[in-house]
Amino acid sequence: MARPKPTVTPAGAARQAYRVAPGVAEAVARYVLPERLGFGLVTAPVMYRADWAEGEWGAGTLTPYGMIEIAPGARALHYSELVFEGLKAYRVGRDWPNLFRPLDNWRRLARSAERLAMPVVPEALFLEALDAVAGACAPVIPGRSGQALYLRPFLFGTESGYLLRNSTTFSFMVIANPVEAYASGALRVTIERADVRAAVGGVGATKAAANYAPSLRASSAALARGYTVALWLDAREHRLIQELSGMNLFAVFGGALHTPSLDGAILPGITRDSLIALARDQGLEVVERPLPIDELLAAIGDGRCSEVFACGTAAIVAPIGVLAEADGREHAPRAVDVVAARLREALLAIQERRAPDPHGWTRDVARPPAA
Ligand code: COI
Repeated sequence: MARPKPTVTPAGAARQAYRVAPGVAEAVARYVLPERLGFGLVTAPVMYRADWAEGEWGAGTLTPYGMIEIAPGARALHYSELVFEGLKAYRVGRDWPNLFRPLDNWRRLARSAERLAMPVVPEALFLEALDAVAGACAPVIPGRSGQALYLRPFLFGTESGYLLRNSTTFSFMVIANPVEAYASGALRVTIERADVRAAVGGVGATKAAANYAPSLRASSAALARGYTVALWLDAREHRLIQELSGMNLFAVFGGALHTPSLDGAILPGITRDSLIALARDQGLEVVERPLPIDELLAAIGDGRCSEVFACGTAAIVAPIGVLAEADGREHAPRAVDVVAARLREALLAIQERRAPDPHGWTRDVARPPAA
């Protein structure tokens, strides 16, 4: 992925180290990790924040997790001037956590910010925030394989006002959640043929909050019908598969892995990119191409497509058990979690540092500066 050049805010001179607010050590010390984590249900005890005003970033602060104040007229609330990221800190069988491809998350956040003409968070500030939160939370990061500390960096416009232009003040925050995988068991997918998630030229290829609000009706309807997640098609013809809500899609055709080519409206998933590399490492052919939904369903029907699965930071690698139309007709791939399981284990073993990391994807969380 190309490294974007900041257009609004220069990466800036060396940053001053972040401030640690009173109560952080106590918040971590009294934190009790619940037995059931789910995904995003449990919050970590600390958070990080830095603010942007008059063209520059102020020093960051690590605080106990808590409510924030925001002007009711803030552009983030009214015009969805908010972009975010998702990545994990892993601590399986070790005392100190590591991250997975954090610079790719930084690059994607920078691209998202540029698309929305928001200030780019400098690389050093982004990494400082991740290190601060993951480092402080190290003792409470869950340690079973598949569990992690999910880090949610987000950048939002805080200026109040209805004039249709960018905010002049922004906040960058990182909150975190001890998590399990987003879903357990095989996903049950509804094919969304009416609503549209994102169109080419819009913000579908960025992690803008504005992508998610229009998708929630289909997600809620899927859940109400006993399904897990909605599958999105292209905005123009409702014919080509884009992605599942929050996940990219792969299908196994013979000995090859097919995935929709990035069309300008699909989110370029870091897990997607990692699986393409790992599949090729395992000798699998990977084909990125436009993938029509009707071709996929026909191929599931006649057995040319044996398996379908989803991937994402939250989902890791999740098998798909069934794809359903609005009228209830279901299409079930004959294999569930065969190739997916192999790739999931290869990915998790690297992420959790149980296997060598030939691509150099993992990075230790930096130790906090001496008090
Ligand atoms: C992630 O995988 O990090 C995501 O952002 C998915 C989330 C929308 C559940």
